[in-house]
Amino acid sequence: MSYGLDLLKIRENSKILLPEIICDVAVKVFTKKNLKIQFYKLNKNFEPNWSQLENLNCKNVSAILMVHFFGYPQNFTKFLNFTKRKKIFLIEDNCHSLPIKYRNRVLGKIGDIGIDSPRKIINELYSGGRLFVNFNQKLNKIKLDYFELKKKDIIKKKLKENFKTIYSIYKFKGNRPNFESPYLYSDQDNDFKVKKIDKKSLNMIKKINFKHEVIQRKNIYLKIDRFVKSNNMKPIFKLKKNIIPMYYVAQTRNLKHTKKIFDWGWKNKIQIVSWPSFYKKFKISKELKSRWEKYICIPLNQQFPKKYGKRI
Ligand SMILES: Cc1ncc(COP(=O)(O)O)c(C=O)c1O
Repeated sequence: MSYGLDLLKIRENSKILLPEIICDVAVKVFTKKNLKIQFYKLNKNFEPNWSQLENLNCKNVSAILMVHFFGYPQNFTKFLNFTKRKKIFLIEDNCHSLPIKYRNRVLGKIGDIGIDSPRKIINELYSGGRLFVNFNQKLNKIKLDYFELKKKDIIKKKLKENFKTIYSIYKFKGNRPNFESPYLYSDQDNDFKVKKIDKKSLNMIKKINFKHEVIQRKNIYLKIDRFVKSNNMKPIFKLKKNIIPMYYVAQTRNLKHTKKIFDWGWKNKIQIVSWPSFYKKFKISKELKSRWEKYICIPLNQQFPKKYGKRI
């Protein structure tokens, strides 16, 4: 993303419109470039509040970030019309999915630039955040080093993939992270070095079987759906045809209910997390916090035994 912003030649000190729900790293990349942040509101389904956006004074705004939250595609036509009218760039964040075809376009290739993060979707990858440059730009002069793979990382990944049960015992030992903290990872320093994806991962990315991902995720989704509905939670998104979402997202009744679900997941070695970890520098409002506290996210690239489709 950092590199993409350079290519777009975004004016320093201009404003970027970011959704009010966004992770710390995705904000830091803009502030590190001395850009100003203005947050736009989202409705319950993580779509922009369009009437608020339309009424926004876009003077000194240079771009808007469109996020396909959790891998459920946004209405990109609305975003394209908006950016065209306001004469600003569209930056597309597809970090929660893969470049799938959706309504005759490919996710990540709709905005002026797009990013994705296949390493989040496909467990086996070692590295892999990608930038899609979707406007005419000569890129052949750029020389990048490969992401350096360490032996330790390769061994760790192999163990993780081949000894899933043992890895899961190790992963869920001790206390669970404080998922109910809105700024959980905000203090971590993130450096944004641009590298080529390592060759091993690149080969794996080429071989990703999208159809298999769609089917696999649908199966897990349906199992989680039973769990969610049996436990008084509401799904936030509908599973549309041929999409590859990262999480099943549900709304609980309140914070106490959320904690109970996190605890249950940790105890039963099922990943259930909060998202996002907000950037501490921009404290969220009380209203947003109480909305956020009711979201729980269940990754779809894990096992979810059918027996858990009951009331806990
Ligand atoms: C919406 C969104 N965009 C971007 C990122 C950053 O992706 P990466 O971890 O590949 O840098 C994240 C990471 O959590 C994210 O959730």
